[in-house]
Amino acid sequence: QTTDDVVVVSNRQPYRHEYDDEGGINVSRPTGGLTSALDAAMRERNGTWIAWGDGSADRDVVDDEGHVTVPPDEEEGTYTLNRVWLSDEQVENYYLGFSNRVLWPVCHSMLMNVHSEAAYWQNYEAVNDQFVDNVARHVGESTIVWFQDYHLSLAPRMLESRVPDGAFLAHFWHIPWPGWDMFRACPHGEEIIAGLLGNDLLGFHVPRYGENFMECVEQTLPDADVDRDAAEITFRGKTTTIKAFPLGVSVDTIRTGAKSEAAESFWSEFADEHHLDEKRVSVGVDRLDYTKGIPERFEALERLWEDSPEWRGALTHVQIGSKSRSEIEEYMDIQTEVEEEAARINERFGTDEWEPIVYTTAHLSDEALYGAYRHGDIALVSPLRDGMNLVAQEYVAAQGDDDDAVLLLSDQTGAHDYMGEWTVTVRPQNTDEFASAIDDALRMPASERRERMRELRNRVEDADVSRWMHSVFETIAEMQTAGTGGS
Ligand code: G6P
Repeated sequence: QTTDDVVVVSNRQPYRHEYDDEGGINVSRPTGGLTSALDAAMRERNGTWIAWGDGSADRDVVDDEGHVTVPPDEEEGTYTLNRVWLSDEQVENYYLGFSNRVLWPVCHSMLMNVHSEAAYWQNYEAVNDQFVDNVARHVGESTIVWFQDYHLSLAPRMLESRVPDGAFLAHFWHIPWPGWDMFRACPHGEEIIAGLLGNDLLGFHVPRYGENFMECVEQTLPDADVDRDAAEITFRGKTTTIKAFPLGVSVDTIRTGAKSEAAESFWSEFADEHHLDEKRVSVGVDRLDYTKGIPERFEALERLWEDSPEWRGALTHVQIGSKSRSEIEEYMDIQTEVEEEAARINERFGTDEWEPIVYTTAHLSDEALYGAYRHGDIALVSPLRDGMNLVAQEYVAAQGDDDDAVLLLSDQTGAHDYMGEWTVTVRPQNTDEFASAIDDALRMPASERRERMRELRNRVEDADVSRWMHSVFETIAEMQTAGTGGS
């Protein structure tokens, strides 16, 4: 048996193989903060990544054990992807069901979107177990296993008894951890927490989520010993350290991409097509998720055009949306709503020369996206709730040294805890305030814009994904030296 130094485990895979119409195989990268962040990290560490194989050609490119080397371009290092196969029933109940209709809305404090069925939980348990079977095959006594996110909360405790002494289990939770008054609504909440306490290290984006987690442990597991000062929890003989690691983006890649030929040529064509010359541009980039607050953002824009007619014909909002979890009713609803609202507002104010909201769900290359960020005078990042929000950081990273773009950021994001003081804060449901914040941002003096952007750039560089990864691994190394980690 060969074991690895580092095994990353997540639901979503970083690369998907799919057949095209001619029977050829295409490789694509799913959208979402988690996979893009960790891909860079794994290229450096060169370990194994275990994830659900959901592409039509995924099975045809792996070896007998489900392994394939990724990424296809080898310039910046490769690693092994080990795919886990799920049945339709498992996808329905574990992924669409318990993960995304229970844990996702609970952790984002949107209890009205919670739907729970017995089969969701049964499959969630079974799939966690199935992942653990794959993981156990890769673990030796010096392996670091690094779980990701809310799909795999039971796996750490399941794995703990199956790995040799010395193996280290870590987990990063990419979404918010809510306060106890919300989390108490979570079906099987106690088991979720007990599962996570199988880890040696449990990371969150910001300290607030870690504090919420400790509060939930105190409330659900009276036998657990919670040391809030040390941020350590001991439960059934295992001690878990809680720590915040604010996740960032790959700053250099974005900065270079934003200046590239491809970025410029995309933007000049796009600007021509939508008559953007001579207009101020705001940008929004989101997965089409009800947590992102897109209708609220459109409402604020509508209010601005209503109350400040000078922005009619002078400000265009470019909204780039990517479809997500479309099998789920609430997600279908948000897609329809966003499209209809954009059309309605365009109908109300638009002219031959001006389309108030340019809305697209077309898939853009990374460079095209970075170009759009760079040409946006302001960005509207206004989720109702968001674990971190990497779009806010990507927008900052895409700006050149002298650029003076303004970031409007919801106070309900982890990113706002991290760098809110240099943004224009918005409360997404407060329409009047949001509308006037857009107006303020557009009128802000250049010197102030530049000053804020400089500070934001420093924050974003500090959180750079490679630094993030190093700080996680540094913490693990310190814990191993101190003898506080390892099963
Ligand atoms: C969020 C989650 C990730 C997830 C991504 C995309 O960023 O934290 O775990 O991968 O959304 O969602 P999806 O359901 O397509 O994986």
